[in-house]
This record gives sequence, C-alpha cells and structure tokens, in this order.
Amino acid sequence: MKITICFTGLSPEPWVQGLQQAFPQAAVDAWAPGATQADHAIVWAPPQQFIDEQAGLKTLFNIGAGVDALLQLRLPAHLKVVRLDDAGMSVQMAEYVCHAVIRHFREFDGYDADTQAGKWSYRKPRNRADFAVGVMGLGVLGERVAKALQVFDFPVNGYSRSAKNLPGIRCFNGPQGLPEFLAATRVLVNLMPLTPETENILNQATLSTLQPGGYVINVARGKHLVDDDLIALIDSGHLAGATLDVFRTEPLPADHVFWQHPKITVTPHTSARTLREESIAQIVGKIQALQRGQSINGVVDPQRGY
Ligand code: NAP
Ligand code: GLV
Repeated sequence: MKITICFTGLSPEPWVQGLQQAFPQAAVDAWAPGATQADHAIVWAPPQQFIDEQAGLKTLFNIGAGVDALLQLRLPAHLKVVRLDDAGMSVQMAEYVCHAVIRHFREFDGYDADTQAGKWSYRKPRNRADFAVGVMGLGVLGERVAKALQVFDFPVNGYSRSAKNLPGIRCFNGPQGLPEFLAATRVLVNLMPLTPETENILNQATLSTLQPGGYVINVARGKHLVDDDLIALIDSGHLAGATLDVFRTEPLPADHVFWQHPKITVTPHTSARTLREESIAQIVGKIQALQRGQSINGVVDPQRGY
C-alpha cells in the first residue's frame, strides 16, 4: 500500500519520516508530478493537478479540521475526504477561547494599560451572569470549548445545525433558532465550518442582535465575518470589541484596519494548531481501520460541506 503526501506551503519531509516510522508496512513518499498512483493521500491545499493525476486514490486525509478549501477542488465522487478529528486541537481551542473570554470579562487589557502607566487602580467587578457566552458550532471543538467555559460558571449557550442536548448548556439549532440564540448571547464564539450556509453569517443583521456590550471571538474562518460590519458595530459602541484568529485574507494585509484597532485583538491563525505526531497517529489508525473494513470518524459529507 502506498501513501503519498502533498502539501502546499509546508515541508512534507517531517511527515514522510514520521508516517514511515509509525506505519512501516506502507510505502510513503512526497508527491511530485508524474508519480505512481497511491492508495491514500495526506494533504494540505493540494493543487488540482494532484487530484487529477492521482485518480486511483481511495482516501484524502486533510491535516486540518476545516475542509472548505479542499472542497473548492474538483474531486471524484468516489474519493473519501477525511478531516482531522480533534488530534490535540480541542484542548488548544478551549485554552484560546477561555483566555479571550476571561481577558475581556476581567478587563485585563485595561489593567495592563493602568500598570504600564504606574497606576494602582481597581475596576468594579462585573456580574458573570451578564456575560452569557454563545458558542456557534457544537462539534468536536465547539463542544469542548462550551464545556471548558462552564468550569468558570459563565452561562453558556450553544448553536448547531441539528438539535442537541448538552447538560447545563442552552442549546439552539437551525435558522429558526438563531435569533433567540443571538439575543441570549453577549460573548459570541464562532466555531462553525465555512459552508455556503455559514459564509458571511457574522454580519450587521446578526451581530447587532447580540446583547449590548457584545464581544466577538472568531476562531473558525475569516469568511464567516463581514469585516466592515464588525468595525461599524464596535465604533458605534454596540459591540465592546473582538478577538480574531482568522481572516478573509491570510496573512492579514499590513494595511488592514484590524491591526491597529484598539478594541480588536489579532492572532495569526494559531488558536488550534495541527500537531504532527497526534495527527499521524490518528491517520494511521484510520487507514488500518479502513483496511479492516471498519467505519471511521471525520468523513466529510460533500453535500453538507463539512
Ligand atoms: P465539526 O465537528 O464538524 O463541528 C461543526 C459544528 O458546526 C457542528 O456542531 C455543526 O452542527 C455546526 N454547523 C455546521 N453548519 C452549521 C449551520 N449552517 N448552522 C449551525 N450550525 C452549523 O467541526 P470542528 O472540528 O469542531 O471544527 C469547526 C471549525 O473550526 C472547522 O471547520 C475550522 O474551520 C475551524 N478551525 C479553526 C482552527 C484555527 O486554528 N483557527 C483550528 C481548527 C478548526 P451539527 O452538530 O448539527 O452537525
Ligand atoms: C485550521 O484552521 C483547521 O481547520 O484545522
């Protein structure tokens, strides 16, 4: 059995070595145009030429959770697309989001500014019950984030496509549930996949219905958010600010208003990184399960887009 690795903008070599070590029975290589046919591929932003040439592939393993970019390619109908299913990402996402929520709630940016000015001053403690956090997307990452937020006693709301019942979390679902979810939410965390239904979903109409003093944490994809609508709502005072990890164009262009805005915190798409060892172990386990004829988690439904 042959496994080939095709990455754009990332060296395949450590993955070739790691995979070969973890799966000595397989022949592993880094793809080059004209290579022989492989059975499975591990990919990150592969070119269309790769898909067209490797017509014998059974499975395409994406080394990220989101497959929006991959689904833009012309993929044969028989090809199974498999995404990373946690592989060490959910704990990182929980850290990042809890950090952002607590930094905002406890006004740590204000304390930083005060202490840098040599000022010893207190702010009035805020009422936790007024800071309901709404997690959009209750999948592998969203559910872990929602549970982590509960540890700090924030009221937590959740929003998904299908109905869910999670202990202590007020769950909403579907387009009909969105207005009530937003109205019940002050701090919005986006963890939905980017699909035709969710593109531009964080816009003037939706963000203006968050509770006054609302705060936005976008850790999913830049195309979920209409940048100008966020800026207008922050500048009008309806929203208190935002923490953004993902952007419509990455790297974020040097002249983008987000860089300098005093109420926006920017990080370089780093909230939940792909961990090589964990990811290789997960992919090897899945290939072995497929060889045994078993079903695996993380298979993408191209119709749903995630
Ligand atoms: P997942 O397990 O597939 O979960 C997706 C969740 O979104 C599910 O709860 C799903 O609802 C919900 N959803 C999908 N479409 C929806 C819609 N139209 N309306 C309402 N809810 C909808 O995905 P995941 O592993 O948690 O990852 C989520 C996203 O995080 C990825 O797609 C990726 O874009 C992003 N991500 C970012 C980073 C980073 O470093 N910034 C890292 C990893 C992932 P159902 O439960 O009903 O299906
Ligand atoms: C990163 O953004 C991912 O989708 O894994």
